[in-house]
Amino acid sequence: MDSLIKTVNLRKAYRVGNEKVVALDCINLDIPKGQVCCILGTSGSGKSTLLNQLAGLEKPTRGEVYIKGEKISSMSEKQLAHFRQMNVGFVFQSYNLLQGMSAIDNVAMPLNFRGVSKSKREKAAKTMLKKVGLEKRMTHKPSEMSGGQQQRVGIARAFVTKPDVVFADEPTGNLDTRTTREVMDLFLEFARQEGITIVLVSHDQNLAKYADRIVTLVDGEIISDKINNSLYDVTNELKEQMKPLVENKSYKELSSLILKTTSDYTEGVAVQALEYNFTSLENPREFMEELIAIIDNETEKALFTRIGRETGAIPKETDSKRLAENKSNKEKIVKKTKKEKKQGFFDKIKGKKIDTVDKKADKKADKKEDKAQTPKNNNDTASDDKKDDKKDNIEKSNTEGNEE
Ligand SMILES: Nc1ncnc2c1ncn2[C@@H]1O[C@H](COP(=O)(O)OP(=O)(O)OP(=O)(O)O)[C@@H](O)[C@H]1O
Ligand SMILES: [Mg+2]
Repeated sequence: MDSLIKTVNLRKAYRVGNEKVVALDCINLDIPKGQVCCILGTSGSGKSTLLNQLAGLEKPTRGEVYIKGEKISSMSEKQLAHFRQMNVGFVFQSYNLLQGMSAIDNVAMPLNFRGVSKSKREKAAKTMLKKVGLEKRMTHKPSEMSGGQQQRVGIARAFVTKPDVVFADEPTGNLDTRTTREVMDLFLEFARQEGITIVLVSHDQNLAKYADRIVTLVDGEIISDKINNSLYDVTNELKEQMKPLVENKSYKELSSLILKTTSDYTEGVAVQALEYNFTSLENPREFMEELIAIIDNETEKALFTRIGRETGAIPKETDSKRLAENKSNKEKIVKKTKKEKKQGFFDKIKGKKIDTVDKKADKKADKKEDKAQTPKNNNDTASDDKKDDKKDNIEKSNTEGNEE
């Protein structure tokens, strides 16, 4: 691969009073085009300082930085500003969106600097916002959006110009596990589809797992530089590996594959790939029972048992009994489509935490529902999830879990 970013003996020292702080020293990095590179390190290790030198936001004390063969460390501020506008995108931990502007205007702005006409800017911004799943929030201002949504706008803005490189400093620092995964998937999608290089800075080992390469900094020096099999690619490969097993009803092999994935990577990867294939399972109950039977680890057993129950793949004994005693109530149960039920489950387990208060609240709600036995037919997946009707059983969830 061609080199996109290169540093030679990079050093950055700050003077604080009479003291000299060496934030970076002897940094020799060569980042090829299209690579997703994570700079990993604890607080104060020099990550942001390195990113700032690479992006031309700060001048190094010594050494050189090249992007696309151009020596940006020797450019004037004016040249640098122009170079950044034409070649670079940024994503920040605190989103840095312009508060008075809509999502569209925020995303369209970098195109303004490139002299793109208003109609083309808006069209491109709309396309990007759709890609990041914000088609319904286009006219919203940052204050009218969640953190995850604001960061999606930030990502759309960084990628709208199809820059050569996007620099991101702790882009998921303010986000929860589920949103972090979604945001990282977006980064990787753009990197893979458009061949855009990404340099991302984080202290979080889990985030680093999405990168193609992990460069670890300690006290301003690179102490390790490793190639990594990105979790994004691993998940996509797993989705494809699962397909024929699902189609051929090879549930034993499918279960072994899931088990191997949870031990090699994370439960989150296995669940994400399973989610993708779940609606194609001809006999989800047989599969879930097969899977649970071969799991030794109690936590994993609990997780997949819950998935089984929440999808309706595995019936709850008590529910079966109750329904058998009261057959007439069965007719009142609102039937959901197979797809709706399964989607509801995965929506539900994504990114939620076990919460004993919620458990109690759910149990109370369940009792109320038992009395009424007339489920509401609305679009709220959280309440819909409590009324699954798989195989004459009402499935109610009273636990929620972390996906990773
Ligand atoms: N403008 C500055 N003046 C003086 N010292 C600085 C300056 N910027 C950074 N430093 C010092 O350089 C070192 C590296 O800082 P840097 O911000 O790069 O760390 P970091 O790895 O990004 O940490 P964090 O994870 O907390 O953001 C720290 O010791 C910091 O105090
Ligand atoms: Mg920092």
